[in-house]
Amino acid sequence: MDQKKNKKIIGIVGGGQLGRMLTQAGHKLGFKIIVLDPTPNSPAGQIADRQIVGDFKDREKILELASVSDFMTFEIESADNETLQKIKDSGMPVNPNPETLRIIKDKFKQKAFLQEHNIPVAPFALVGSMDDALKQGEIFSYPYLLKARFDAYDGRGNCVVNSKKEIESAFQKLSQSPLYAEKFIKFKKELAVVSARDVYGRIVSFPVVETIHKNNICHIVKSPAPIEKETREKAEGMANKVLDALRGVGVFGIEMFLTTDGEILVNEIAPRVHNSGHHTIEAFNASQFEQHIRAITGMHLLDLEPLSKHAVMINILGERESEAEPKGIEEAESLGYTKAHIYGKVKTKVERKMGHITVLSDNLDEAEAKAVEARKKISI
Ligand SMILES: Nc1ncnc2c1ncn2[C@@H]1O[C@H](COP(=O)(O)OP(=O)(O)O)[C@@H](O)[C@H]1O
Ligand SMILES: [Mg+2]
Repeated sequence: MDQKKNKKIIGIVGGGQLGRMLTQAGHKLGFKIIVLDPTPNSPAGQIADRQIVGDFKDREKILELASVSDFMTFEIESADNETLQKIKDSGMPVNPNPETLRIIKDKFKQKAFLQEHNIPVAPFALVGSMDDALKQGEIFSYPYLLKARFDAYDGRGNCVVNSKKEIESAFQKLSQSPLYAEKFIKFKKELAVVSARDVYGRIVSFPVVETIHKNNICHIVKSPAPIEKETREKAEGMANKVLDALRGVGVFGIEMFLTTDGEILVNEIAPRVHNSGHHTIEAFNASQFEQHIRAITGMHLLDLEPLSKHAVMINILGERESEAEPKGIEEAESLGYTKAHIYGKVKTKVERKMGHITVLSDNLDEAEAKAVEARKKISI
């Protein structure tokens, strides 16, 4: 295994933008990175030391990745947790723990797990048939949500059901996965915390951010969240409680609702780096990606220092179906304290995450206005 001779190798299941930014952080810390992704020349594969082309659920390919890695992690929930568990059982460090992945990848199991650990979540129920969905409409009242249990992201597994007439079309839209129902939550804001745990058991969290979604997709992140101290402390406490309940080391993204009554509910957990932490690349002494690499390789997490009072991140979503042609990056960055990240995706698609922009500023509103302006200068 020549590859193992010098630098240690991190194997990442998944080669999207998260894998790409993990690769950048891994290289900075002196590791080699090999990614597994079905798309040749994936965003991470373009800059990694090697890409194995294969599916996240392909047992043989995951075993091949393990055979050339010293540490393993994943950037996508659909990674095959059973194979990762076998690899872990054979003595390889695999983090976050595959058992945690098993629970989280099934959104229904995840909700039940949180409830068992006394972590407040929106009322939810299993739905096996349209009859069940009808009953649930009576219990939750309309609108409520039907959600895919598996492989959901960027709102693609969710459907708001406004009346019983919409149940059938919701079932059609979400036919790829078993479903569960969730009460519609009236929230004041959505919040998120990115927390990391290292092998020494220490937890280090980034400040609570506000996330603003458009069409169920993360659009803007404001750091720190413009909320009162009491709310902030509640959200931080909730993140710690979630980490106490979960096994394994690495970074976790914890999405929350701040309800109109001032309560905090956990919406969902990502057992990986998260879109609400992309600003940390520029806004902190260590990014979420660096903290993750540190944690999974047995290094100590760094104490965090903000490098700017405020940061705003805006996603660059595709607006057409075509070959990607990024333009206007320099113009956007010339606004100052503005950094654009383009993920290298070959094809642009409507609402596909193609990149993001981070703006640092002493003033939150100014940062947001500049982020919006910078976004307008970029086409992709
Ligand atoms: N129970 C709910 N009530 C109101 N809005 C919701 C609810 N669940 C999800 N949403 C909205 O949809 C977005 C995406 O839902 P989420 O379950 O987090 O799925 P995804 O895995 O696609 O991120 C959330 O960020 C939120 O804006
Ligand atoms: Mg979400």
